[in-house]
Amino acid sequence: MNWEQLNDNTIQDYIDSASYDAKEKYNCDYLDVSETISELAYLTHDYFRYYGKFPSKVAKYIIDYVQGKGVISPQTDFIFDNYNGSGTSLVEAKIAGYSSGGIDINPFGVLASNVKTNNLDDKQLQLRFCELMGKIKASDSPDMQQTFFSFEGISEADASGIRDVNKQVYLDFPDIDKWFDVDVIRELSTIKYYLLQMPHDEYREFFLLAFFSIIRRVSKAHDAEVRPHVNPKKKKRNAYEAYEKKLIEMISTMNSWNQVTAKTVESHASICDNSDSARVSGQIATLKNSYHKEMGLVISHPPYLNCFDYIPVYRLKFLWAFGFEEIYGQLSYQEIKSEEIRSYPASNDAFVNNYFRHNIDAYKAIYDNLKAGGYCCVVMGDCTINKELFSVHKMLVKAMESIGFTVDKITYRSTAYGMGRYAYKHRADYNDKDGGKQDAIMFFKK
Ligand SMILES: C[S@@+](CC[C@H](N)C(=O)[O-])C[C@H]1O[C@@H](n2cnc3c(N)ncnc32)[C@H](O)[C@@H]1O
Repeated sequence: MNWEQLNDNTIQDYIDSASYDAKEKYNCDYLDVSETISELAYLTHDYFRYYGKFPSKVAKYIIDYVQGKGVISPQTDFIFDNYNGSGTSLVEAKIAGYSSGGIDINPFGVLASNVKTNNLDDKQLQLRFCELMGKIKASDSPDMQQTFFSFEGISEADASGIRDVNKQVYLDFPDIDKWFDVDVIRELSTIKYYLLQMPHDEYREFFLLAFFSIIRRVSKAHDAEVRPHVNPKKKKRNAYEAYEKKLIEMISTMNSWNQVTAKTVESHASICDNSDSARVSGQIATLKNSYHKEMGLVISHPPYLNCFDYIPVYRLKFLWAFGFEEIYGQLSYQEIKSEEIRSYPASNDAFVNNYFRHNIDAYKAIYDNLKAGGYCCVVMGDCTINKELFSVHKMLVKAMESIGFTVDKITYRSTAYGMGRYAYKHRADYNDKDGGKQDAIMFFKK
């Protein structure tokens, strides 16, 4: 197995590289994650449904373990996540008192992470909430059904602005009727119009996240499935009501969040391809300079091989996001898609080689920037390829050793949490038996 030149490797080479017994070779233990999704969604973890996020308990477990070893402290180290997703690691870092940073290619993940880790003033939020909902409701004329755009109680400029947004949405989004009822399109267009009017600041990000978090719920798509598919039996839901409810919940949570976390403990996520070593090093250098701390711990949770690609899952949200710099400020949809690590369908040698090539580039960039003695902890699940077990985590151990990391320990975890409808058939038959698919938390040391 050649980890330097991956191009000539075959699927069989990978399978052979994982033919060792991990429990014999390494220190292994077990973590039970039997809590329900709502038990794990405390504080701001609940703000945004991010498909494929890991249980908050896993991030906490990693931080507690590495801190317990005396490797990191909040005074000297910050925590980084190079597959940041919606910022589960950064939320836990902040709760534990650590400054942190994260990168992800998905702008919705980055937005969620920044809103979830910010401390916003809840009175200010309440004021802006009343102002925004007041305007939205004033635009909702009772006779809207007959005279589609005869607004009452709002200025002509706003009425015409809303009409323009509504028209543009139909132009941006060719099959919008398939996904949303006409009333819901009008309601979402009105919310979008007022969000576009808000000054660009962290408060707008908060209201924007709430907007994107209701898109799936008010669409005609199944809520539980990963990729959007129309659910003909789904009941229509009023977007204003869903938005108002979501905001009320989020503001109340912000109140609690401010009680348990400090504004001085900073957290910054940004959009970046984690295999671009120059950019990753630049991002980490900026954090080091601004925090005056070392990167002592990296928590990392790559997309699982043969599971699903992330970006298409967010298609409906992307289509409502035109005009928002927070989402399209840096990269177009096509650019985002092309920089994402491809993980599905893993059907041939070249595909699997690319998956590992991307990960090796990403972890080399981490190795180069991690402090000596620091930890990089990778959460990874196995899959099957052509119905055969493909023990990705054991392969990754070998890849990480080729970079220079050593294994401190491997924790296997129960996966009841991940057995929902979004655990596609390729990874749905997890069990904890030897020789079956496993979900591992791997502790690598530099
Ligand atoms: C398993 S998810 C991480 C979820 C995260 N742990 C959480 O709890 O929200 C994997 C993430 O990798 C991101 N990703 C894929 N390709 C990437 C790339 N080239 N650079 C940075 N992130 C990437 C995806 O957008 C996705 O958010």
